[in-house]
Amino acid sequence: MTRPLELLWEEEHAPAGELPAGLAELYGGPLGFEGPCLYANFVATIDGTVALPAVPGSLKLIGDERPSDRLVMALLRALADVVLVGAGTMRAAPSATWAPERVYPAAADAFVELRERRGRPPQPRVAVMTASGLIEPGHPALAAGALVLTSEQGAAHLAGRVPEKAEIVALGSELTVDPVAAVAELRRRGYELVLSEAGPTVFGSLVGAGLVDELFLSVSPFLAGGQRPGSRLGLGEGIELLPTQRTGARLRSIRREDDFLFLRYALGEPAERGV
Ligand SMILES: NC(=O)c1ccc[n+]([C@@H]2O[C@H](COP(=O)([O-])OP(=O)(O)OC[C@H]3O[C@@H](n4cnc5c(N)ncnc54)[C@H](OP(=O)(O)O)[C@@H]3O)[C@@H](O)[C@H]2O)c1
Repeated sequence: MTRPLELLWEEEHAPAGELPAGLAELYGGPLGFEGPCLYANFVATIDGTVALPAVPGSLKLIGDERPSDRLVMALLRALADVVLVGAGTMRAAPSATWAPERVYPAAADAFVELRERRGRPPQPRVAVMTASGLIEPGHPALAAGALVLTSEQGAAHLAGRVPEKAEIVALGSELTVDPVAAVAELRRRGYELVLSEAGPTVFGSLVGAGLVDELFLSVSPFLAGGQRPGSRLGLGEGIELLPTQRTGARLRSIRREDDFLFLRYALGEPAERGV
């Protein structure tokens, strides 16, 4: 059983949200959003590693399968209209469905109640960004009706291979999916709360386009180290920010459970910086 998160600090006038009482108690207070929001969730080691690409299941190593971290992950999913992942994350999680109760089954009923209160279907939709279309057609998220945001080449590759419930949308012919077009497609479909559970490469491109409103960062009490280039991925891959682009963040809340920290930030637009 999870110990409730301890609220260490929160900004004044934090959005109240609609968490059922049991969930609010576990989270250490209310959790909500003001209007449409794209929020990302990551767990990182103290030294900033979020993935060990060569190590299967590295997310479990980094997050230590800590119930409190899984609770936050599940809560953020339960609030979302759509969970956005990248092909890299989908490939690394062959049986994932990104359903809230998959990571925190003890509160399955409360997640359904929360979604009902918000007038949402029982599960958030899953959307995957893949320009190549090189994703496993038998992935359970596709069978459950995931939206595939891809390129024309990716769409041609996937045509006729994915389950009928999956929906393929071609957003251009580039070698990567334009993050602005991808998020616009989600908004066009009425998805207001978009949770990014994508890995650091998609996250980097979303941040680069100024699309991420908030970051929920769990800091796990481990050091990953790293000797070989590419053996560890940090939070933002594939994009150069400092020293020329300064992307600031405003702290919104700090919670803890034992040695884990749970930080909520509002992210600013990347600003040019002359050095
Ligand atoms: N610590 C955490 O909280 C956390 C969270 C999520 C994931 N992860 C880990 O991160 C690792 C995967 O990292 P990743 O960076 O490869 O995953 P990712 O960001 O989810 O996926 C990257 C892939 O997305 C596709 N893509 C399409 N459009 C893109 C765009 N505009 N920008 C960037 N990518 C685009 C590309 O594949 P195509 O070639 O198919 O286009 C690209 O290789 C896994 O080990 C996973 O477990 C950790």
